[in-house]
Amino acid sequence: MKSSSLSIAGAWLFLAFNHALAAEPHSALHHAPAPDTRSVLALEPDERAMILEEMRMFLDGVHKMTGALAKPDMAAVAEIARSMGQIMVHEVPPALRAKLPQEFRQLGSSVHREFDQIALDAGSLQDVSHSLNQLSATLKKCVSCHATYQIQAPIHSDSH
Ligand code: HEC
Repeated sequence: MKSSSLSIAGAWLFLAFNHALAAEPHSALHHAPAPDTRSVLALEPDERAMILEEMRMFLDGVHKMTGALAKPDMAAVAEIARSMGQIMVHEVPPALRAKLPQEFRQLGSSVHREFDQIALDAGSLQDVSHSLNQLSATLKKCVSCHATYQIQAPIHSDSH
């Protein structure tokens, strides 16, 4: 009896601790998860998949770039940054591009432009701290876009 009430207390503490960890990134004032109030981009499932794939390439690139900066291998930094530059934009089909709000596209293309600039500077200046400052400024744009938009694939009642 005693041991089972102890383990219940233990389980409760564990849950409370997990809850506190989960709540940690949010304001301490919020005890329930906040509803997702970000602007919705209504895209087809394949369009959503394409955007998310590009996003994962971004994350992969940022991962590789921080590794190259730590070495430092500035030639690799330049090459990785260039792969996330304007060269990536041409892969977006015009039909999808047309569905994206102007602010979204502007934010997106400024991120690509900045990666091109990071690539140029990494090659010419070879300055890790400069590149990190640029990367940090660009990551702020990732953060800001994610705070503003979400993607939803519409449910089609006539699809089958
Ligand atoms: C112009 C807007 C915009 C920019 C800039 C942007 N993202 Fe995203 N990203 C999104 C949206 C919208 C989603 C989907 C979010 C949702 O539906 O909850 C997303 C999702 C993601 C995901 C999840 C992918 C998946 O498979 O679920 C990752 C990772 C990501 N972004 C990384 C990045 C990184 C890293 C950067 C900067 C280098 C970046 N994004 C810049 C809009 C953006």
